[in-house]
Amino acid sequence: MQVHHNKRDIKADVASFLKENKTIGFVPTMGALHQGHLALVKEALDNNDIVIVSIFVNPTQFNNPKDLEKYPRTLESDIHLLSDLDKNIIVFCPTSKDIYGDSPTAIHYDFGGIEHEMEGKFRPGHFDGVGTIIKYLFEIVSPHKAYFGEKDFQQLQIIRKLVEIEKLSVEIIGCQIYREQSGLAFSSRNKRLSPIQLKESPLIYNTLIEIKNNFGTKSVVSLKNWIEEQFKNNVELELEYFEIADSSTLKSITKKEENKKYRAFIAAFAGDVRLIDNIALN
Ligand code: PAF
Repeated sequence: MQVHHNKRDIKADVASFLKENKTIGFVPTMGALHQGHLALVKEALDNNDIVIVSIFVNPTQFNNPKDLEKYPRTLESDIHLLSDLDKNIIVFCPTSKDIYGDSPTAIHYDFGGIEHEMEGKFRPGHFDGVGTIIKYLFEIVSPHKAYFGEKDFQQLQIIRKLVEIEKLSVEIIGCQIYREQSGLAFSSRNKRLSPIQLKESPLIYNTLIEIKNNFGTKSVVSLKNWIEEQFKNNVELELEYFEIADSSTLKSITKKEENKKYRAFIAAFAGDVRLIDNIALN
């Protein structure tokens, strides 16, 4: 399997694929690959001639240095997982210096307001970091299609906006959330959960389902109060936020309106591990 560690080499590959009119599917990741990532890669394999997977723990999107330091790094087993799936996948795992030079810096973006909601409130600068690395990676990889999971639904909307702002000619494909049997959404951070945290963390998805079942018959305020109560009663999980928001503006709502699409979003801590999840409500 081809593994490239610098942008010069992968750019040379990309140039020859484009010359041969091959379509390029791209799955950007930060590694510690799980079934959710592999589902994105499978989707890319089904719909493109060439699939490139990047593995890069992007320093500019971590507002919390401890989180960056503790982010799982499992490059060798990631490469094994990908090569078991398909030996033709091309892996791009650059160094920070190759991408950013000596001082990793994020571009400041105006994403039209969605960057200030939910994750944006609790992780200042996070979406500037995501926008920056995705812009750089798209410039290197020149993908026709790029694949992102809906677990990071706000990130997905930010990337769609980035493509608009930067006038990039890539199609962004959002893929459904993959869950462990317990209902917990697959996340690289799940590797850091203790057995008891792992046992309790399906509360996040279970409460989201309950919200979906009651959305429209109960008020948004009462649903919020109910969620807060559930988390207060759980010693392992601490709720950071729960919002019901318009799916396109991501602005939280207090009342449901006809003909609009909504999603419910949760961020919670299990110890120092931050977990997020969301669900479409209608
Ligand atoms: O979702 C992720 O893993 C990261 O935010 C991404 C999109 C790879 C950018 O670093």
